[in-house]
Amino acid sequence: MEALLTPSRAQLEDKAPCNIGVSPVGSAGNQAGRPFDYRSGQALSYDIDRQGKLLNVPLLDIASYAEPERVRKMFGSIARRYDLANHVLSCGADFYWRKRAADIVAGWRPSSVMDLATGTGDLALTMQRRMPNVEILGADFSEEMLAIAKHKGLRRVMTADAMKLPLADGSFDCVTIAFGLRNLPDWKGALGEMRRVIKPGGHLLILEFSLPRLPMLRAGYRFYLHRCLPIVGSFLTKQKSAYNYLGDSIEQFPSGDAMLRLMESTGFANAVAEPLTAGIVTIYTGQRV
Ligand SMILES: C[S@@+](CC[C@H](N)C(=O)[O-])C[C@H]1O[C@@H](n2cnc3c(N)ncnc32)[C@H](O)[C@@H]1O
Repeated sequence: MEALLTPSRAQLEDKAPCNIGVSPVGSAGNQAGRPFDYRSGQALSYDIDRQGKLLNVPLLDIASYAEPERVRKMFGSIARRYDLANHVLSCGADFYWRKRAADIVAGWRPSSVMDLATGTGDLALTMQRRMPNVEILGADFSEEMLAIAKHKGLRRVMTADAMKLPLADGSFDCVTIAFGLRNLPDWKGALGEMRRVIKPGGHLLILEFSLPRLPMLRAGYRFYLHRCLPIVGSFLTKQKSAYNYLGDSIEQFPSGDAMLRLMESTGFANAVAEPLTAGIVTIYTGQRV
């Protein structure tokens, strides 16, 4: 899955020693939508208030790893093996996730869509095939990933930093982002920037990893995430321990209600979560106020 490649902890730690340390405070046991430290079995100490403000962010925070230049280089280095790793690690389920996302977007009947953090363009291409007359733009800050997206047939691509898009306000009817928001240094800031470029009344769709709600499934999935996926992912991408970070980033990323609150606090109404494949990924949608 997401060869999903976010930089491994090891890769980033050895280049950027930072204050590492999960601060698991709070009651034991995960609650759906609450960040969780799988090692201690406790919820992480940060939460999101009703306004979507991140509270008590622990020292180990995704953003502290997601230094943009390192993230960009890392994705560039795995670009050629990214698609294969995704398909193998998700056992092909990623095709279905993107198809479902494209079906939802098609139902909104947009004239223009931007797929942000498009990577090798799989979601943008699925939408381009599903809606051949709609302007679909794939934006990413990795030239290497975009070159592959273009080679695969994506008509419009743009090199851009998701945190500072070189686009006018209200440029698109819809913005999508698949497995990208989690990698950005400031989730709320990124959502605000997406909102800015969506027309009033337009839509946002986020496709992102989450954890199954059923305890048995969640336990099995955690084992896969933290034990199996790093080994297989590293083998497929030839990046040693490239996937070590993925499990942690999924554990800590707001999901379910927490993500809906974050979206609503950033100016999206009618926020809805649709879990797929037993909840290992979720599609979030909302409408720009
Ligand atoms: C895990 S990949 C997801 C790619 C694709 N959306 C998919 O579904 O396979 C994350 C992508 O986000 C891009 N990315 C990360 N930080 C970014 C930023 N600040 N601005 C633009 N793109 C960014 C990376 O270059 C990478 O292509």
